[in-house]
Amino acid sequence: AYNERESLFIAVNFAKEFFQQNLKTEEGQSIGLSYFKERGFDPVTIEKFDLGYALDSWDQLLVQAKKSGFEVENLLKAGLVLERENNKGNYYDRFRGRVVFPIHNLSGKPIAFGARILTQDKKQPKYINSPETAIYHKSDVLYGIYQAKKAIRQEENCYLVEGYTDVISMHMAGIENVVASSGTSLTASQIKLIKRFSDQVTVLYDGDDAGIKASLRGIDMLLEGGLNVKAVVFPPGEDPDSFARKSGKSGFQNFLKTEEKDFIHFKIDLFASEAANDPIKKAEAIRQVVLSISKIPDPIVRSVYAKESARLLAMEEDILLTELNRQILKQQ
Ligand code: UTP
Ligand code: MN
Ligand code: MN
Ligand code: MN
Ligand code: MN
Repeated sequence: AYNERESLFIAVNFAKEFFQQNLKTEEGQSIGLSYFKERGFDPVTIEKFDLGYALDSWDQLLVQAKKSGFEVENLLKAGLVLERENNKGNYYDRFRGRVVFPIHNLSGKPIAFGARILTQDKKQPKYINSPETAIYHKSDVLYGIYQAKKAIRQEENCYLVEGYTDVISMHMAGIENVVASSGTSLTASQIKLIKRFSDQVTVLYDGDDAGIKASLRGIDMLLEGGLNVKAVVFPPGEDPDSFARKSGKSGFQNFLKTEEKDFIHFKIDLFASEAANDPIKKAEAIRQVVLSISKIPDPIVRSVYAKESARLLAMEEDILLTELNRQILKQQ
């Protein structure tokens, strides 16, 4: 007999293969595969990420899984089916009529799914994701880590993006050292996972208000985790996926190289752009930069950054250091 975790791995893997097979059916080809093609995903990439399609049906996965000998209890615990609210003891598929992005653990086993809607229906969520299960702890997982880990080591850098499609499009643009936090805010355990492979992260969040906000929070958390942090700002309304598609492989790679900024420059540019002639705004920019520096655990690294930012902000080092110490004391 299998233990619970093992039986969930088997059920999720069955679902992954079922969703992949569905892509070959008439419905899967005309709806799922053509959606991927429209987004520019090539067959190699579809295979690399185990992409699939959930049929537009209430129970196709349930029926097939039962036929193959799976217990409903097991499918329920794996997050694959749901119990009907007003008809207890009856179950239906969680993922229906959507393209499916399997989420793999570090060793490449599928543990969960994200499934994207195909229409513009604003009444339904764009993505439906697996719930927490015994093998899927959302806050411990980074989408794409299995496909990225080797490249992260080689490049000594990890790109951090928001979404599934950002990861996939970057692979197609020849950049494989990329993982996604999948829309949720970054956690300490995700940062530890990155740190197993690299000490440097470049944050590539979406070019909208939510993305900038998430970048600021993510940068401070990464600094707190002892990582070197850079960031790239995308044009308004663009994300790594849309921008990579627009600018092409070498255009995108050049953009990353030229737009990549140290977190200090990222923050200064964000807060100090209009602050040059406005003392109040300049003070706020200084406080923001100092706040990030205060998160750096290593006192030597911290003092190097303090010096550098005093120079960049054209202010006396003593004053900046006083503010830095005030921030550090405040956080203790
Ligand atoms: P985005 O809204 O930026 O979507 O959410 P996206 O990744 O650019 O997707 P496309 O290009 O429109 O297909 C970023 C990430 O947040 C999570 C997903 O992981 C998504 O990739 N998310 C977003 C959800 O889990 N549910 C949602 O309804 C929306
Ligand atoms: Mn666990
Ligand atoms: Mn977004
Ligand atoms: Mn996006
Ligand atoms: Mn997108």
